[in-house]
Amino acid sequence: MTDTFEPEIVAFCCHYCAYTAADMAGSKRISYPPNVKIIRVPCTGKVDAIHIMKALEKGADGVYVAGCLEGDCHFKTGNIRAAHRVLRVQALLEEIGVEPQRVEMITMSAGMGERFAKTARDFTEKIRQLGPSPVTTAARDSRRRAVS
Ligand code: FES
Repeated sequence: MTDTFEPEIVAFCCHYCAYTAADMAGSKRISYPPNVKIIRVPCTGKVDAIHIMKALEKGADGVYVAGCLEGDCHFKTGNIRAAHRVLRVQALLEEIGVEPQRVEMITMSAGMGERFAKTARDFTEKIRQLGPSPVTTAARDSRRRAVS
């Protein structure tokens, strides 16, 4: 790992909570790393394992899914389903020799702007410590071979 490594993070954020919390962090001027690219989803229950895997394949070094607190999902159990999918993706990553910590499920309420920012900082730092994703590197190498 180099000192200049800046991880690419994708955060799938539920419109009702994490996305609003990110908005609140912004309006309160609580900073968080620009490494985190937010993808707003209506509910984390809409995030499938393939979306997480695609994000990793397309260059993300880490992905987190941020949903409503348990019991607060506007679609009842979307966040529970998302948590199960994240566990499945973690197991799959472990099976193929990729650190499962690169994927995480997080919950928060719309008012938790500080928690959103802290999560973004902590997750970015964790991925920075892990280094570049081997999935991204493998996908990049494969594309290079296909072109040449
Ligand atoms: Fe937020 Fe389902 S509506 S996780």
